[in-house]
Amino acid sequence: MSFLRAFFYDSLLAKSEEACLTEWRSELVKHVHGNVLEIGAGTGANILFYPKNGIELTLSEPDKHMRTQLEEKVKDEGLDHVTISSHTIEENHKPDATFDCVVSTLVCCSVPNLASAFSEIKRILKPDGYFIFLEHVGAEKGTRRRRWQNRLTPLWCKISGNCHLNRETEIAFKNAGFTFKEIKRESMRKATPLVRPTIRGIAIKN
Ligand SMILES: C[S@@+](CC[C@H](N)C(=O)[O-])C[C@H]1O[C@@H](n2cnc3c(N)ncnc32)[C@H](O)[C@@H]1O
Repeated sequence: MSFLRAFFYDSLLAKSEEACLTEWRSELVKHVHGNVLEIGAGTGANILFYPKNGIELTLSEPDKHMRTQLEEKVKDEGLDHVTISSHTIEENHKPDATFDCVVSTLVCCSVPNLASAFSEIKRILKPDGYFIFLEHVGAEKGTRRRRWQNRLTPLWCKISGNCHLNRETEIAFKNAGFTFKEIKRESMRKATPLVRPTIRGIAIKN
C-alpha cells in the first residue's frame, strides 16, 4: 500500500499543484533561513523552492518509497548540499534549539499525535524560530463537510497513510504555545472536497 501511495502521489496531487499548491509552496518556502528541517518531505514537492545558497537543509521522510523518490529528485536537481534523513518528527533525536525553521506541508494530518509532534518541533526550534506550514484541516464544526470528514476519517486513515480529514491543526498550534506571524485559510482548488479546507503560514516559537 505504501509503495502504491508513493507511486501515485505526484499524479494524485497534480491538478491541485497546478491550481494553487505550487504557488503556495513557493511563497512559503522562500521565508526559510539558517538551519532548516523539512519534516515528511514526501516525494520532494518543495525542494525546488528552497534558496540555493545560505541555508543548511535537512529533508526527513520516514516512508522508504517516498524517500526513494525524494532521493532521486534531490540527485536530479544536483542539490548536493542537502541532507536526507529517515526519521519521523517524534524520533529525530536532535538537540534542543537546533533549527531556525521547520517546514511541514500536508504532514500534520498524518502524524500519530499532533500535540506530541508540535511539542517536539517546539523543542528543536530556536527561540523565535519559524514553523512554516501548509496543511489541510477539518472544516468548520457543524458543517455538512465536517460531518462527512468525521464519518470518513477512520476509513481514510487506513487507505491514506493515517491521514486525518478532521484535524484541528490551528487549535493544536495555539495549545502548543505557538503564535501566528501570518496565517491564511483557503480552499485547495481541484482537490477532493474532503481535503479542501487548508491553513498556511508561519507560526513562531515564543
Ligand atoms: C501527504 S504526504 C506529504 C508529502 C509532502 N510534504 C508534500 O507536501 O507533498 C505526508 C508525508 O508525511 C510523512 N509522515 C507521516 N507521519 C510522519 C511523522 N510522524 N513524522 C514525519 N513525517 C511523517 C509521510 O511519510 C508522508 O510522506
